[in-house]
Amino acid sequence: MANSVMQKWYEAAKTRSSVRNYTGSVDKDTFYELKGAASRLCNDDARIELRAKNGVLIKPVLSQLLGGVEGTNCFAAVIVRNGNNYMGGYVGEAFVLECASRGIGTCWLGASFKRSAVRQFIDIDENESLIAVIAFGRTNGFPKPPAKKSAEQLTGLETEVIKALPEWQQEAIRIAKLAPSARNKQPWDIEVKKDMLGIVCNSSNFGYGDVDCGIAMLHIELGAGMRNVYGDWDMKGATKYFVPYENTVAYDDKE
Ligand SMILES: Cc1cc2nc3c(=O)[nH]c(=O)nc-3n(C[C@H](O)[C@H](O)[C@H](O)COP(=O)(O)O)c2cc1C
Repeated sequence: MANSVMQKWYEAAKTRSSVRNYTGSVDKDTFYELKGAASRLCNDDARIELRAKNGVLIKPVLSQLLGGVEGTNCFAAVIVRNGNNYMGGYVGEAFVLECASRGIGTCWLGASFKRSAVRQFIDIDENESLIAVIAFGRTNGFPKPPAKKSAEQLTGLETEVIKALPEWQQEAIRIAKLAPSARNKQPWDIEVKKDMLGIVCNSSNFGYGDVDCGIAMLHIELGAGMRNVYGDWDMKGATKYFVPYENTVAYDDKE
């Protein structure tokens, strides 16, 4: 059985969607609980800083085009070191799913916030960059998400071929498909290999391509984990591979 954190994030990945109209900021206790959760997600390559400040989240005049949120002043700044945008996406999405598992709404924001205002409240070092913020707050529910690409489009495989894949790969693809991405572009292809899944970023997507891929990577891992397949990411090449630990892939799935 997948561990309880994985289980709750997996369930949240299936039910969440971006919330742009909030019924209010989260209360003080919830804010501090989330702050604790966010600090446990940080690592050498990415950190998440929570603040509740006015003047950062904006609903632009061109909100039909640029999106944007209203009704909350809570945000999580996603900051990466040495350009590791993948890790920012991965860690930021963990925060999104943690919020969703508690019924708290979120929305990744690349554009509709004031960068200069964030820097007033958070120190960002020279080797760091602010890749996005995640607005969060109270919501009456999650709106219907926009349509996502199909598994066939993402993998380039026929439906019958997908149905014949090992369960863990099918589940990983199902959950990856739901991952949020800037302008809902899902700028990545999934490469299915025996015993592995690869993800390759196929567009810079206005500078958010690697962040989007990092988000999808977490979703792949959660889907695999729900079928008791755990592994690590091989980040060396252009295609990033999820490589299961030897003893988690069923013997029958092997040569
Ligand atoms: C890196 C990134 C940047 C985003 N920037 C914005 C933004 O500036 N404004 C906005 O309204 N939504 C933004 N979004 C939210 C996407 O539009 C949303 O995730 C996508 O349409 C899919 O919808 P869903 O999250 O409901 O599944 C962003 C999402 C990501 C992952």
